[in-house]
Amino acid sequence: MKEQTVDFDRVIDRRSTSSTKWDKYAGRDILPLWVADMDFASPPSVVEALRTRIDHGVFGYTDAPESLIEAVLAYARSHYGWPLEPGWLVWLPGLVPGLNLACRAVGQPGDAVLTATPVYPPFLRAPRSSNRSLITVPLVDRGEDWGWDFDAVEAAVTPCTRLLLLCHPHNPVGRVWREQELGRLVELAQRHDLIICSDEIHCDLILDPTVQHVPLARTDPSFAGRTITLLAPSKTWNLPGLGCSLAVIPDSALRRRFVHEMAGLVPGVNVLGFTAAEAAYRDDGGWRNALLDYLRGNRRVLQEWFAGSRRLKLTVPEATYLAWIDARAIDPVNPLPQFEALGVGLSDGRDFGFPGYLRLNFGCRRALLTQALDRLMPLR
Ligand SMILES: Cc1ncc(COP(=O)(O)O)c(C=O)c1O
Repeated sequence: MKEQTVDFDRVIDRRSTSSTKWDKYAGRDILPLWVADMDFASPPSVVEALRTRIDHGVFGYTDAPESLIEAVLAYARSHYGWPLEPGWLVWLPGLVPGLNLACRAVGQPGDAVLTATPVYPPFLRAPRSSNRSLITVPLVDRGEDWGWDFDAVEAAVTPCTRLLLLCHPHNPVGRVWREQELGRLVELAQRHDLIICSDEIHCDLILDPTVQHVPLARTDPSFAGRTITLLAPSKTWNLPGLGCSLAVIPDSALRRRFVHEMAGLVPGVNVLGFTAAEAAYRDDGGWRNALLDYLRGNRRVLQEWFAGSRRLKLTVPEATYLAWIDARAIDPVNPLPQFEALGVGLSDGRDFGFPGYLRLNFGCRRALLTQALDRLMPLR
């Protein structure tokens, strides 16, 4: 394990940078712990690679560099024992377009897409935007963590269902689905002839050292041809503003259809996105290890604070820097205004299909997190 000292406590003022996260509450004394980007600078190796590329001064149309493709293949092999072929990769300027393209590339208008709630809001919007109907099945709160109700999933599948949208690790409940759980989903998908699109954008942010991410597409070679895996360096290395993501689609017919849906509508990845992605996948791992340590520390702060709460319940995430909070005791439908009134901005659970819940982004300085928790004392 590579060690690196990184000062994640350093104050970086983002208020003058058109930051989506910080501008939402501009001019109001509300600490923004909502949208999923972190307040940290990216690794020095990424910043340096960008600087070098900028110094070149020419920013013409750019294809994915061969060296980036090699970096992704090497990363997937060494981190996940997942052998990819270069031709399987489709580059995208964002992962949300990937969710929408998956809905359009599978089945026909009028077909159904199934997903489990609570879930990252674009999962709920993409099917309808793609003229598909949406079927949702709630995950089950088991107290310590959340799990699948496989019987409910089975019962929800209709003859028109063609696609399962999976979030793995799961935003917002922070679960890393185990091989056994993935196996059950694959078995169900095989029986009902479904494709699974697995959004694995958070897969390099596993906080629990005893847990390993297993790509869904790697679990069963006979099912790999029915998978679309969406990946991006943007969450782990904090590059969401640079717009570089990819879909891994092993089956050539499915890939052709996906690419066909992109034609003329989805722009290529920009040159700086490619540059940053390659530097991130090639980084020696020290920065990421230091980040995970820091996030574990923030998670501990949250755990301790919520352990003393009578009215708020925290789901401790195994992965991601997102914490899911049951705030139904504050307001069963819309607790967010009471948090904002105390000076803390969170994500509204209604957007995730779960009224009365909130999502807190702890990818920030510990002092800011502590300040937010101090402000929330009256709701504890
Ligand atoms: C599960 C998940 N998928 C996709 C995204 C966003 O991806 P992008 O910014 O590349 O569209 C996020 C961002 O929070 C996410 O949590």
